[in-house]
Amino acid sequence: MRSMLTPGKATCILGAQFGDEGKGKFVDLVAQDAQLVCRVQGGNNAGHTIWVNGQKVVTHLLPSGILHPHCEVAIGAGVVVDPLVLRDEIIRLMQQGFDLAPERVHIDYRATAILPAHKAQDLKREFERSKTGAAIGTTGRGIGPAYASRAQRDAPRLSDCVTPGFLESFAQSEQALAEGFTPEILTETIEACNFLRPYLKDVAMLVHNRLNDGASVLIEGAQGGLLDLAYGTYPFVTSSNLIAGACPGGLGMPPTRIGTITGVAKAYATRVGHGPFPGELSGALEQLIREKGHEFGSTTGRSRRIGWLDLVALRYMTCVNGYESIALMKSDVLSGLDHIGIVTAYKDKRSGTVMNAWPMTQTAWENIEPVVEFMDGWSEVLNSKGQLDPALDAYVRRIEEWIGVPVVYVSTGAERTAGIWRNSR
Ligand code: IMP
Repeated sequence: MRSMLTPGKATCILGAQFGDEGKGKFVDLVAQDAQLVCRVQGGNNAGHTIWVNGQKVVTHLLPSGILHPHCEVAIGAGVVVDPLVLRDEIIRLMQQGFDLAPERVHIDYRATAILPAHKAQDLKREFERSKTGAAIGTTGRGIGPAYASRAQRDAPRLSDCVTPGFLESFAQSEQALAEGFTPEILTETIEACNFLRPYLKDVAMLVHNRLNDGASVLIEGAQGGLLDLAYGTYPFVTSSNLIAGACPGGLGMPPTRIGTITGVAKAYATRVGHGPFPGELSGALEQLIREKGHEFGSTTGRSRRIGWLDLVALRYMTCVNGYESIALMKSDVLSGLDHIGIVTAYKDKRSGTVMNAWPMTQTAWENIEPVVEFMDGWSEVLNSKGQLDPALDAYVRRIEEWIGVPVVYVSTGAERTAGIWRNSR
């Protein structure tokens, strides 16, 4: 494996589709050589599943770097943190045998706290939207309302929540965000914040110091660029910015410290929740891929929608994020299919115009259909010499031709060791 890391720089590994691309496994691989792995946006709407020696490890807030004992991990100020969820996650992972002492886990004091009222608002707004058929299909974790109240400067930060007496008086105040603090929830939240207190630090300065000391830092994106608040399929998106340009802001790191940027895409596409999804499949093929790829949300357990890989979207994401390479995940899930589809353009159903640009309006989205090209499938991902099957290799080359950047890694199975590095410099 070649290292993608540079001492004194931060490497960004970001989802290039609608999330659930398999970033956890890829970050875990690259993190072997990193000293610090960071989350910079989102919250516990994310979920990473990594298989290590047959043990399933799921994280929602902590970066996948925790699996490597030598790695420190950090949660930047751009993340929204549910104190109860983070406390429970730390305890659960410690019970699984991971060392999560405050010396190696750093959480920014300035991260926004998700409160009971945010979760209630999230569910209520989704219910209201569903009455007019406009539901987004949020994870219900209070992410959007927490970011909204941060923008309105109403939400408390973790630094407030650990200030003695703060939560007690906040819960008794007249403000709308105090709703939902029953005596039990208030007590539990105070306990969770007390538990988190030793983990709270000035993460921006910590990152600054580590980089100055020559550490290799990894920024692990949550969700995927097509769910970016501004550049995704708005309004069917999450409520934070996910593109590479937003990463330094979520950590308090200067953009000049970014080293390389890699996009992670699956060999097919999935989406949870509502919104445009060119190339979406239905029927037996959809079921087959869903079952084989275990495409059920690790956060909500919802069935993921399944589609062919969309090269229009991947090229758009490559431009907006500046990916310098791609990691292609889950190629093994497509094994055994005679033909593999790949979306190469969109067609306006009304005019018949074929486009390969990202649609800009809701009306444009409603009127496109995908142009799908079919390529030969592969029965096994690897040949007897351990090389990529020629049909899979051709598929990977087609992606590279289309987006103009190399596919450096092809994952060929769920385990850490299942994958091939390509185009090593
Ligand atoms: P929210 O982030 O809970 O507000 O959900 C907004 C949209 O983003 C919904 O369609 C969710 O299904 C989707 N979403 C949020 N987080 C993830 C993720 O980690 N993976 C995939 N989809 C996500």
